Amino acid sequence: RAFYGSFFHTPEYGSFEYLERALIEVGEDGAIERVIAHDDPNQAAALAKVREAGTLYELGEGRFGLPGFVDIHIHSPQWPQAALALDEPLYRWLDERTFPLESKFADVDFAKKVYSDLVDQLLARGSTTAVYLGSAHLEATVALAEICAERGQRTLVGKTVMDDPKANPDYYRDASPEQAVRDTETLIREVEAIGRKSRAGAWPVITPRFIPSCTDEVLRGLGNLAESTGAYVQTHCNEGQWEHDVVLERFGKTDPYALRDFGLLREHSIMAHCPYLTEEEGEMFAELGVAVAHCPTANSYFSSAVAPVQRFRSQGIHVGLGTDISGGYSPSMYENIRQAVLVSRLLETGVNAQLPPEERGGLGEGTRLSLVESFWLATAGGAEALGLPLATFEPGRAFDLQVIDVKRPDSDLTGFGVFDEPIDRLARILYLSTPDNVRQVFSQGVLVCDKDAR
Ligand code: GUN
Ligand code: FE
Repeated sequence: RAFYGSFFHTPEYGSFEYLERALIEVGEDGAIERVIAHDDPNQAAALAKVREAGTLYELGEGRFGLPGFVDIHIHSPQWPQAALALDEPLYRWLDERTFPLESKFADVDFAKKVYSDLVDQLLARGSTTAVYLGSAHLEATVALAEICAERGQRTLVGKTVMDDPKANPDYYRDASPEQAVRDTETLIREVEAIGRKSRAGAWPVITPRFIPSCTDEVLRGLGNLAESTGAYVQTHCNEGQWEHDVVLERFGKTDPYALRDFGLLREHSIMAHCPYLTEEEGEMFAELGVAVAHCPTANSYFSSAVAPVQRFRSQGIHVGLGTDISGGYSPSMYENIRQAVLVSRLLETGVNAQLPPEERGGLGEGTRLSLVESFWLATAGGAEALGLPLATFEPGRAFDLQVIDVKRPDSDLTGFGVFDEPIDRLARILYLSTPDNVRQVFSQGVLVCDKDAR
């Protein structure tokens, strides 16, 4: 297949590229083979050929292509409580809301109902790749991987491990550390099998919930499993003061060192949140190839803090963006792109204008994220974090596309044609679009969502 239209993407951090009236040729496997620019003398012949073959898809007037988003941190069983109870502190939100909800995913039929809706809603917002934390149940989590494969969403997915009887309710936890490790081994096998037949791919992720919910035995067992299988690892790290203090008291060291010593920090391990990450810990992340999932919305609630993304980047740490449903209220990566920009501005200056500037606690110049940098986090940054060839329109990368119509009855992003440079168009799309502006979504070269056909 071939796709003709105008596309935005960010091959490099800090800048964007506008491919105007470009032709993108995609192979049978859904990977990009060639990008032919409008001023390339070969474009006309290439266009004629795919037109004749009937394999051309034209985005059309007033439509723009963006890469599919890569959401690198989202809790699938928390979808029914998105937007709820965010006034609670993390530990109470977990005990009173989240654990009772997640425990319902013992019922696989209920899980399938929720997960089918979640995957559809994410695709409808342009998220073609998602890194999920499932519930603590093996069966429901495998069902999620199957639903993603059916719907065409690329998935990395883990069964959440939480085995400590002192930290978790009896009605919702792993029966023992051995059982948790065995279930994780089974999950790895089953998701790898699904991945072999899924077009866009499915990968298992070793998923201790966070240190406070896990015993030493299980953390060690999962670290060994990570070593022996090379599977991805994900967890929450350095999210809030409460967690920070609990871990320090238990191990005499902070989350990153404790996780490292259990063998859980490896290349492409994904650490969610990290607002407390020190420079020294950051250097270790960079050396090991560990990635940070920046979750700006959730951090505003449960961390009451902002992660210094620009510092992470300048330290050479991989950083992607996560919605963190339901610590973050929105399933939309657009919303989180916006939030990442906004909170970075507060971190730059500090928030309390009642104080003299030098006492506000801002980190100063170089701290803010530009809109384009935030767009990179949601696309190429996520791909880099996962070590997968995704999220830019370059040969060899998976072709994941969202088609944006800038003129919808209730969401007109055309700006009356006054400011109409590529950056203006891109800014309107990123800041102002609604799910209705996203008309089609392709994953690995295949149409997975078509709102025009509804
Ligand atoms: N820490 C442990 N579990 C969770 C969770 O479900 N969400 C968030 N944001 N933090 C956590
Ligand atoms: Fe989370």
